[in-house]
Amino acid sequence: MNVLIVGSGGREHALAWKIGQSPRVDKVFVAPGNAGIALDAENVDIAPTDFARLIQFAKQNNVGLTVVGPELPLVEGIVDAFQAEKLKIFGPSKVAAELEGSKIFCKNLLRQADVPTADYHVFRDAESALTFVKEREDVPIVVKADGLASGKGVFVCQGRAEATDAVIRIGKDKEFGKAGNQLLIEERLDGPEASIIAITDGQTIVTLAPAQDHKRAHDGDQGPNTGGMGAYSPTPLITPEMLQSIEERVLVPTVHALKRARRPFRGVLYAGLILTNQGPKVLEYNVRFGDPECQPLMMRLKSDLFELLLAATDGSLDRIEPLEWTTDSAVCVVMASAGYPGKYERGRPIRGLEAAAQVPNVKVFHASTAKVGDQIVADGGRVLGVTATGATIAAAKLQAYTAVKAIRWDGAWCRKDIADRAIF
Ligand code: AMP
Ligand code: GLY
Repeated sequence: MNVLIVGSGGREHALAWKIGQSPRVDKVFVAPGNAGIALDAENVDIAPTDFARLIQFAKQNNVGLTVVGPELPLVEGIVDAFQAEKLKIFGPSKVAAELEGSKIFCKNLLRQADVPTADYHVFRDAESALTFVKEREDVPIVVKADGLASGKGVFVCQGRAEATDAVIRIGKDKEFGKAGNQLLIEERLDGPEASIIAITDGQTIVTLAPAQDHKRAHDGDQGPNTGGMGAYSPTPLITPEMLQSIEERVLVPTVHALKRARRPFRGVLYAGLILTNQGPKVLEYNVRFGDPECQPLMMRLKSDLFELLLAATDGSLDRIEPLEWTTDSAVCVVMASAGYPGKYERGRPIRGLEAAAQVPNVKVFHASTAKVGDQIVADGGRVLGVTATGATIAAAKLQAYTAVKAIRWDGAWCRKDIADRAIF
């Protein structure tokens, strides 16, 4: 069977690499892919939101399963479009993807389902949000744009002044466009963050090994938020008992509540959690694999990912064997372009990729690279996800950074402390 993966980042590279290992898969296509993905799969020059051309390609190329990487096509209804053409596709329908597409929908669902989450208020315009901020105590709060804003529409504020500024940027200046048509103001929670990623067919939930990312740009978890500067799995923060309690108190009631709301959910359920003194609380849901969390997870997963995703699509997850994971740890270090997460340069030639690939137990996933002539060049902010396995997190970290040292381009940088939180 042929598989089509939609997307072009490090997550999609890891998915293509892993799915390509399945004995049941003949060819893996990635639309649009990148220069590194082309080494493990076949790139197809179609944008992730061009549903008509993706459908046509799937029909003409005997694609038996399509797997969607990023949230935007899901929120825009790619799954509904494929299903209307009787094509198999892994991911939630448009109405189910609102779990990520609308933070307000997500919070209302969590409240109904009695899933622990921060207290919140919803505002339909900037004025009412400003009045709320003015009349409240001057305490830390979080201001969020309702819609998709590439992770940038969230402001964790010390107090009234910052919150006022955030409301104006989201609701008045419309920095995030229509994502800011409605606003959410939440109590600020304290504690370490962790993500739990699960696959569900709407009935059965298969939780993946715990993983953690580093969202801040600089060492010591300082600096601005990014898409993620690195990730590792497993994480000592999530004990088996805690994982079970998260399944029971968070994942199961969420899947049930979506079913009751007539938005049955199939696909990836990614719960962003904060581990407070009162236990884990949900910060947000994503409806896709985390990037870069997906990269270490795919290196640790021994089971056939294709079988898992196909079973979730077919509604037969209850019949698959429990997932097998290597006891090894995996660490992914993101190498970024100068300027990221702000404005960055494109087009710098990358040297040393072959040498990095020679480092044992390493896989260099490409997040945004392009081929210009014979050269692979940096083509975005997050460029590579250098991922390694090892008997311990420390050993995996050492391997990953050994490979990182072999790679160079003008302005390349990475955090030096990925996974240190998990090393004692
Ligand atoms: P979100 O996209 O909603 O996960 O928010 C992005 C980041 O903002 C999270 O990873 C947290 O670091 C932070 N954040 C969001 N909501 C809260 C909250 N209620 N309390 C504290 N931090 C938060
Ligand atoms: N690494 C965070 C995310 O994928 O949203």
